Amino acid sequence: MSETYEFVVVANRLPVDEVVGADGGRSWARSPGGLVSALQPIVRGHGGAWVGWTGQPGDAPEPFDTDGMHLHPVGLSEDDVDRYYEGQSNGTIWPLFHDAVEQPTHRRPWRQAYESVNRRFAEAAAQLTAVDGTVWVHDYQLMLVPAMLRELRPDLRIGFFLHIPFPPVELFMQLPRRAELLRGLLGADLVGFQRPLAAQNFLQLTGRLLGLDPQEQHVEYDGRTVTARAFPISIDVAEVEKLAADPDVQAEARRMRHELGGDRRLLLGVDRLDYTKGIEQRLEAYGELLADGTVSNDDVVLVQVATPSRMRVQEYQELRARVEHQVGRINGEFGAVGQAPVHYLFQSMNRAELVALYLAADVMVITPLRDGMNLVAKEYVAARYDDQGALVLSEFAGAAAELTTAFQVNPHDVEDIKRALMDALNADAGEQAERMRPMREQVRDHDIDRWAQDFLTALGKS
Ligand code: ADP
Ligand code: G6P
Repeated sequence: MSETYEFVVVANRLPVDEVVGADGGRSWARSPGGLVSALQPIVRGHGGAWVGWTGQPGDAPEPFDTDGMHLHPVGLSEDDVDRYYEGQSNGTIWPLFHDAVEQPTHRRPWRQAYESVNRRFAEAAAQLTAVDGTVWVHDYQLMLVPAMLRELRPDLRIGFFLHIPFPPVELFMQLPRRAELLRGLLGADLVGFQRPLAAQNFLQLTGRLLGLDPQEQHVEYDGRTVTARAFPISIDVAEVEKLAADPDVQAEARRMRHELGGDRRLLLGVDRLDYTKGIEQRLEAYGELLADGTVSNDDVVLVQVATPSRMRVQEYQELRARVEHQVGRINGEFGAVGQAPVHYLFQSMNRAELVALYLAADVMVITPLRDGMNLVAKEYVAARYDDQGALVLSEFAGAAAELTTAFQVNPHDVEDIKRALMDALNADAGEQAERMRPMREQVRDHDIDRWAQDFLTALGKS
């Protein structure tokens, strides 16, 4: 029998992505997104196994050990990528769970692929987990896995964490085969969410859809108690602080500032290029401030880093075209030779470069229309050991519940974004410190280890 593990994480993506070079050569790079940022230190710390996809279509490579983790790849065919990943996960569930800010598409073959791929993940986890072990399933791509896994391995403790928002009952009810999805989640012993409201939505739904009798934090189902609670996710604070204290990173921050034009104030956006992130609204507000002369290209510059994401999905291609058009228009209208008001980078960065940018930025601008948490907000705060800098933060990011002294903003209201940007730009050193200090304390006290510990304790992992 092959080796088994006491602690197994199951997520759509492995923490590393397989990259195929122009010459056909294959290598590994860090996977995009907040889920991986958050989970990697946990699995490493537990010496656990991680079941996930490599990010490329095709047969799964052999399992391998890296960085204190056992990685167990699950293969997705071209069709699976098309239907399960780009289709049901990112064309149906992702937009619906983010308040339908883009129209969700419903297709039967997508749902069928979602079910068969979920089964494959459940089978891999069932094989890999030791008797009485713990499996922690993650995110909206794998909502059927808990029930499938329980059927295969009733001896396991099964936890599920949803990294994105859980929609209100009326929205969830739009999903075809909705009861099956809900039963999938109810296969877990503990279902974790970013916000208490999400847990309430979920519990309420068990009453509405399945006629169960939910209590404040749990519901009886199939002779078991399923607990549903909020566990706001966080970041590896020590990693960010270490980078921020590194003299090379600090020198890089100074170099960046100098290159961008010594005295200009630096606004910064860092996001996956996703329609939930409110990048267009942010650019619109900035463009209007330039147009009405409230700020000028001589005084202010915006750096927008946009990580390529889900680029085969039509909505993401269209978003890219719109954002790049908007950037071109602003630079064309308000730029000067050798000095652009927007620096747009459509690329991934390494952690040191990212932290250097956080240190360089006067104002971090985070304006999602809806976001489960938003780890970039917490990373910015953790990096600012100098208690300087200002955070403009959407009310609709989960992080807003904890980072209450940020300049909070309604991202649907361009006037309000303009107001918050100006308040942040005008805050003096004293106000910046007064706002930043409590946020830094909050993030330091609630880092990723504490999050995982809280969840695993509630799950009853020994
Ligand atoms: P999401 O999970 O929706 O992508 P989060 O803000 O929660 O959003 O997490 C994003 C994660 O990806 C953060 O850890 C952030 O540092 C990282 N990240 C964002 N943009 C880039 C980039 N251009 N290059 C490298 N990492 C990035
Ligand atoms: C968000 C989701 C993750 C996802 C990540 C990157 O953080 O919650 O589940 O992995 O975005 O998206 P991708 O589609 O590239 O995995």
